[in-house]
Amino acid sequence: MKDVRVAVLGASGWMGKVHTMAYQTFPHFFGDSHGKAKVVALVEGNSSSAQELSERAPDAKIYKTWQEAVNDPDVDLIDICLPDNLHYDVAKAALLAGKHVFCEKPLADTAEEARELADIARDKGLITRVGHAFPRNPVHDLAKELIDAGEIGEIKLFKGCQHIDVYGDPHAPYMWRANGDLAPTGIVGDTGSHVFSFMEFLVGNVTSLIADNYITAPKRPVVDGLAFGEVPELKGDEEWADITNPDGSNVLCRFANGARGLVDFSRVATGRKFMQGYEIYGTKGSLVYNYDEINRIRFYSNNDGVGRRGFREIDVGPEHETFQKFSPLPNFAVGYNESKIIEAAEVIKSITENQPMWPTFENGHHICQIIDACMESSRLNAWVDIK
Ligand SMILES: NC(=O)c1ccc[n+]([C@@H]2O[C@H](COP(=O)([O-])OP(=O)(O)OC[C@H]3O[C@@H](n4cnc5c(N)ncnc54)[C@H](O)[C@@H]3O)[C@@H](O)[C@H]2O)c1
Repeated sequence: MKDVRVAVLGASGWMGKVHTMAYQTFPHFFGDSHGKAKVVALVEGNSSSAQELSERAPDAKIYKTWQEAVNDPDVDLIDICLPDNLHYDVAKAALLAGKHVFCEKPLADTAEEARELADIARDKGLITRVGHAFPRNPVHDLAKELIDAGEIGEIKLFKGCQHIDVYGDPHAPYMWRANGDLAPTGIVGDTGSHVFSFMEFLVGNVTSLIADNYITAPKRPVVDGLAFGEVPELKGDEEWADITNPDGSNVLCRFANGARGLVDFSRVATGRKFMQGYEIYGTKGSLVYNYDEINRIRFYSNNDGVGRRGFREIDVGPEHETFQKFSPLPNFAVGYNESKIIEAAEVIKSITENQPMWPTFENGHHICQIIDACMESSRLNAWVDIK
């Protein structure tokens, strides 16, 4: 079995570190059942981290520009952990160079770009993947099994949310995430896309929606050198930059299968360090998920006897193949970084077996259509159809 040779782009950033760790770590849990990988190149524009990168992956080439990795004949997979505005250009160049591509979310700035990427990948027979890792926690496989087995009947309502508070404080600093040039869809592509990935995975396609995007603080201080989420003590002489993409949105949507959706997400929910959840109501039962109990799904069934009905708490456990890779006992939490390890293992399995796995660029395109529709709907103040 040959190693899939991986280049990680944006290697010093949060996702760059997590993805590099995931390739290095997944064989520890999965053996060679998902194939083998080797990180052969790390790309990082910030040159101050070159030494740290060499220590992290001693055999890897260190590049400063993404073009060097895309043009490297010894690279099979380009893994894009760069700011959103670079995803389309880099993914397109990589696919045209014949590389498989794993791209962080959102896949592209527009659905049109995402469509083009999915088409190139299909025509060239390349494996693609988008970094919607949250639904890859095995607890959501359990939710999907219950839905697919008809245990909750026909889905009538999806309620979903994701909130953080990094921008709750009006003095929280300006960063690329708040710059409409570098992250054109703001929180909609950032956090909204995670909720949309649950919708895509568990409910199906959205046909129309109305969104109310909002900005809470029109300007933020420019303070360099802070970690994501850190709020500075202001000196008073800071430059203030315009916030040019949304901080939050409330969305109503309709699904192709007749279900309705009610979704909200933001980066300004003061006190919410990371709030994520969904409630799915069907004609025979319901499912409720809350990230704070990361491996637990609550399941209500009308099949239970009258007088005995209520939500039962199910902790996904080792009877689920993927969970079992990490722990022989339930409730030994499989968390965020593990979901990225599962994701990396699945990317390598896809390439090794030439089998696409959810979420491919096709799914990433559907999610970009929802993002586009949110941006357009909020601008028009009207319902928007998704074709
Ligand atoms: N799936 C998830 O849960 C998740 C979580 C966080 C971020 N993301 C996505 O991952 C991507 C990266 O986010 P992050 O939080 O890691 O950002 P980050 O700012 O921590 O990292 C980005 C890195 O890219 C480098 N970089 C920027 N431009 C470059 C260029 N032209 N050439 C080479 N290097 C360059 C930066 O120096 C930085 O090290 C974004 O698209 C974001 O939406 C996904």
